[in-house]
Amino acid sequence: MKFIVAILLWGAASLACAANPASPLEIPDTLEQRLKPCIICHGDEDRAGRDAYYPRIAGKPAGYLFNQLRNFRDGKRYYQAMAILLENLSDDYLLEIARYFSSLKYPYPQPVANTLSSEETKLAETLIHSGDPERDIPACSACHGKALTGTKPFIPSLLGLPHAYLAAQFGGWRNGGIMRGQTPDCMSEIAKKMTQEEVNALAVWLPTQPVTGESAEAEELAPELVQRCHTIFAGEDFIQ
Ligand code: HEC
Ligand code: HEC
Repeated sequence: MKFIVAILLWGAASLACAANPASPLEIPDTLEQRLKPCIICHGDEDRAGRDAYYPRIAGKPAGYLFNQLRNFRDGKRYYQAMAILLENLSDDYLLEIARYFSSLKYPYPQPVANTLSSEETKLAETLIHSGDPERDIPACSACHGKALTGTKPFIPSLLGLPHAYLAAQFGGWRNGGIMRGQTPDCMSEIAKKMTQEEVNALAVWLPTQPVTGESAEAEELAPELVQRCHTIFAGEDFIQ
């Protein structure tokens, strides 16, 4: 534990070197070098694998990553190690970090076997492709893209994420006491309308899907869906 804290503090110090290029460490001061502490948890090896909790960040749309970095820094999403590392970093620097990770192309994990019953699989697939108009739940694919690989610049891919992480994010959105991003936001409104059975089925179903491509372009998103997520899209001017 002491080791992790020491690495994180070193990381925080080296991240802050953006403002002070005269670092006493004889390590080349590149962005890649400064972001090494992030790779401890968000790297491409086993730690980011299916059984772990750590979410994939490589290749996600830059606007989405930027929003999350600001959320962690500003206490709107909570994870202590992330908060320590991002404390006091400027918006400009967070945008630079977001663009860097967005440009990385790490390999995706292999899909896991589907352990759901055929009814549970149908429950998940119906929400993904059709949603439920009666409960005002749009299809997940309407916003996250037909291939579920996300929509630039603000909507992330749903693939290549571990089950435990997916289940926890839905827990955060559904439970008013845990912050997970902007409020009000479209994802928490959607998550609150879903049943626990639907959440469980989706969190198992998504990691069974192979990843087939990169994030789609924003033009593909219907204007009413953009309107629905307006708090998240608020940074649009900044990101372009
Ligand atoms: C000690 C492990 C650890 C370190 C080091 C770490 N992270 Fe994280 N990061 C996490 C965990 C765990 C989460 C998910 C937290 C949650 O459930 O909200 C996360 C979430 C994120 C997210 C949101 C991902 C998503 O899909 O919503 C981004 C972006 C991110 N981290 C970037 C970074 C960057 C950049 C650094 C380096 C400055 C970093 N992380 C360092 C563990 C870590
Ligand atoms: C109206 C558009 C919209 C619809 C429909 C939608 N989402 Fe989202 N989703 C978003 C946005 C926007 C975000 C980014 C939230 C943020 O920035 O905090 C997001 C984020 C997520 C994330 C977080 C991924 C990560 O890396 O942390 C998951 C998981 C997710 N959505 C699952 C779903 C599922 C499953 C469905 C279908 C039941 C769905 N979404 C339907 C807009 C939508």
